Order: sequence, then structure tokens, then C-alpha cells
Amino acid sequence: MKISIINGPNLNMLGTREPSLYGNLTVSDINRQIEIKADELGVEIDLFQSNIEGEIVEKIHSLYNNFDGFIINAAAYTHTSIAIRDAALSVSLPFIEVHLSNVYKREPFRHKSYLADIALGVISGFGYLSYTLALEALVKHIKAQAQA
Ligand code: DQA
Repeated sequence: MKISIINGPNLNMLGTREPSLYGNLTVSDINRQIEIKADELGVEIDLFQSNIEGEIVEKIHSLYNNFDGFIINAAAYTHTSIAIRDAALSVSLPFIEVHLSNVYKREPFRHKSYLADIALGVISGFGYLSYTLALEALVKHIKAQAQA
């Protein structure tokens, strides 16, 4: 099973960026935790980060026929990007939206997501655990679908 993990803008600044909201882990630290969970689950992962909307769109397109699902923290694009929503719809793969912070505790503009209603689910507010919990849930979902 192959799962892609996609991180959007400013997440390359984790560790430095607003630690009171996002914690002290860097994106590499978070990726390490995801790799440990992937090994435990016996799945292959691919890790991607971009600050550029079009690159995220192209990354999602590239998953078609090559991956079983994806996990995305589209960061600020979550709240703005119809292009990323359309890309997710175009590949018809199961995906989970994640956030490090609990976006529903924050400014009202972060309560709107262009992905939530087409995602399997949303995990928000658990720091790096948002990603590892999402990986567990997505792998279980894909296995259950394969057996059905
Ligand atoms: C975020 C929440 C977004 O609102 C914000 O723009 C981010 C990070 C999170 O992981 O908590 O960049 O997606």
C-alpha cells in the first residue's frame, strides 16, 4: 500500500514558526514520526512539501494510478484553494485532511475548508499525532474497502 503525505505552505518553517501554536518539531521531525508509524503499519509512504499551490495540484495529479490514498495538510490553502479541491476530486483517491493546530479554536477564516466535505475525515489539533492518527485511519479504511 502506498500513501502520500502532502504538506502545504509555510510548513517548512515548523520549529521556528509560531511554536506556541505549532510546537517545536520541524517538518523533518514530523516526517520521522510518520515514517516510524508507516513501518509499524507496513505501508510505503512518500513525503512532499511545497509552498506553491500549482505544485500541490500537480503532486495530487501524480498520485493517480500510483498511490492508494493521501494525507494532506494544505495549510492556508485549505481555506482558499478551489484548485486543490478540484485536484483532489480529479484523482478520486481517499484522503484525510490534517492540521497540527485545532483550526476551530482559531480565527473564523480558518473554520472554512475547501477539502473537508470531500475528505474521508479531518484530524485537527493533535500536533504531529494528527498525521500518525490519519495514517492509521487511512490504512484501515483502504484495507476495509479492499475486503468489501
Ligand atoms: C494549519 C492551520 C492553517 O490554518 C494554517 O494556515 C497553517 C497550518 C495547521 O496545521 O494547523 O499553515 O494547517
